[in-house]
Amino acid sequence: MLAAKTELKNAQKVKEYLLKKELIHPDFLLVKEFDFLYFPLAEKIKKIPLAEIINTKFSFPPKEKKPSFEEILKGKLTLQELEMLPKSQEIVGSILILEIPPELRKKEKMIADACLKLHPQIKTIVRKDHKHEGTYRTRKVVVLAGENTKETIHHESGVDIKVHLEKTYFSARSGNERLRIAKQVKKWEEVLVMFSGVGIYPLVIAKHSPVKHVNAIEINPFAHQYARENIELNHLADRITLYLGDVWKILPRLNQSFDRIVMPLPMTGEDFLHLALGASKKNAVIHLYQFLKEKEIPEKKKHLVERCKKLGFAVKILRVVKCGQFSPGVFRVCFDIKVT
Ligand SMILES: C[S@@+](CC[C@H](N)C(=O)[O-])C[C@H]1O[C@@H](n2cnc3c(N)ncnc32)[C@H](O)[C@@H]1O
Repeated sequence: MLAAKTELKNAQKVKEYLLKKELIHPDFLLVKEFDFLYFPLAEKIKKIPLAEIINTKFSFPPKEKKPSFEEILKGKLTLQELEMLPKSQEIVGSILILEIPPELRKKEKMIADACLKLHPQIKTIVRKDHKHEGTYRTRKVVVLAGENTKETIHHESGVDIKVHLEKTYFSARSGNERLRIAKQVKKWEEVLVMFSGVGIYPLVIAKHSPVKHVNAIEINPFAHQYARENIELNHLADRITLYLGDVWKILPRLNQSFDRIVMPLPMTGEDFLHLALGASKKNAVIHLYQFLKEKEIPEKKKHLVERCKKLGFAVKILRVVKCGQFSPGVFRVCFDIKVT
């Protein structure tokens, strides 16, 4: 078999070269023999620095191949049924959240068992029953397989976050967006996270920025309790203050103004915009989330500037970031708004 033979002392450099050029055969393991290392090659090539290209007499040991979801379910579901399953599933801690179309309800237990086999790190499979709803933005889930629990600890950007999938809102899919916000935060800023849920925004901000202190307001008592546990769990309780209650009532009572206000409540967050503007220092940045279709974004951008102007505030939209998908064709969009 075609291989790159190199002395052990050069192995790291050769490996880096082969990886960069995507030349290592993905199906086989490399072989070490005496003072040499043999990399299985995916294609013919003339020259590799610090290595000799040879045809080995031995065959490389094959990598153990994990069966795919489709392979595990082959014979149990028709091709049409396989097509109906969502291509990616959300994983929160050790729980995998399945979206099962109504047509496959009768086979959901078998599908969930297949998921457990496929992901050894997953302990529980749940089916989401509804979309997020109500003031607390929560939803029902049904345990289909594995441990009978709806609580787990999720790891995101170096933060451990304990969540209950039914009593609290949490979306693992917003991890990159939270980090994007955290990376903008400066040491001297006074930060407020409205609608803070189980505390993930304040925690990621405290962990990934030099800021001294973050304030957070959440109305769901369960989420607030989890947030209290989470700031302890991450040893960040001295840098985060959590308020339980309605932003309408709590924010005026704080009698404070902020350099940055995060508003992760896409459905109705805009109703709180005048409160956020009123609590903003000069040059503050507001991160306002919305659910929008692509074609609605430019109009919304204009509308936000005009709305702020009517409320007596000049603003500039620094950027508009599409940071997730709510439903087919509808995006989670963040407007980074500078109060000038
Ligand atoms: C979409 S979730 C976001 C939670 C969290 N920031 C996250 O990203 O995981 C919105 C949160 O806002 C809370 N909420 C809704 N209305 C509120 C209000 N008037 N005052 C404070 N919190 C509120 C809900 O309970 C929910 O936890």
